[in-house]
Amino acid sequence: VIVSTASSPDQAGALAATAVLEALVAEPRAALGVATGGSPQPLYASLARLVGDEGVDLRSRTAYALDEYIGMPPDHPESYHAVVARDVTGPLRLRPELVHVPNGAAEDPVAAAAAYEEAVRAHGPRVQVIGIGANGHIGFNEPGSARDSVTRVVELTAETRAANSRFFASVDEVPTHAISQGIGTILAASTIVLIAHGATKAEAVAAAITGPETTDVPASFLRSHPDVRVFLDEASASLLPQHTH
Ligand code: F6R
Repeated sequence: VIVSTASSPDQAGALAATAVLEALVAEPRAALGVATGGSPQPLYASLARLVGDEGVDLRSRTAYALDEYIGMPPDHPESYHAVVARDVTGPLRLRPELVHVPNGAAEDPVAAAAAYEEAVRAHGPRVQVIGIGANGHIGFNEPGSARDSVTRVVELTAETRAANSRFFASVDEVPTHAISQGIGTILAASTIVLIAHGATKAEAVAAAITGPETTDVPASFLRSHPDVRVFLDEASASLLPQHTH
């Protein structure tokens, strides 16, 4: 794991965007794996600028989202279908038909999860952007998730639903379940770029990078991957020992 600390979330986003672009250029067939939420927004904004300034053409890239809520129609503004279209597909000028999000509105979410796992794995190389939850989750792999877990139906913890309630009128509107790539699915990517900012992430970041590899902190399993790059602002890096950032 290589950790870079920047003075602000925007600076961290700019560094992370450069790393993502380099990894994509190095692997012309690689899919782009994308996270939703607040953490990657500075990364996507910088990447959109880079793509525009440098005339990079991402139109032939396939993208895969990490997760989607269950039971939310895709046209709901806070469904991850809608968030990915808004934050990623549009700004990066990807072709919508090449951008995939798990089908959380499927009649059979278990089958939809299995189909998604197969599609992600079949694509081959993937440059995966991830955030981290304050409880150490990656994707919606909550504490207790196995290292070799695959895309599946998961139940969100009360903490995760509370954290995501900022996007909804109340916590009761936050779905209770999601389809999420597994930890094993995420670890199959060739390059993983983790981005985080803010003091609320400091404990999870420190546990993931310096603590034991344990199901209690799903992000700690990233340490067994050969190419993980972590981009932090000072607040989210504040509990790391000095030499790691
Ligand atoms: C999002 C995802 C989650 C988030 C994490 C942090 O697709 O899978 O793991 O990355 O919950 O969320 P934010 O960035 O909103 O703090």
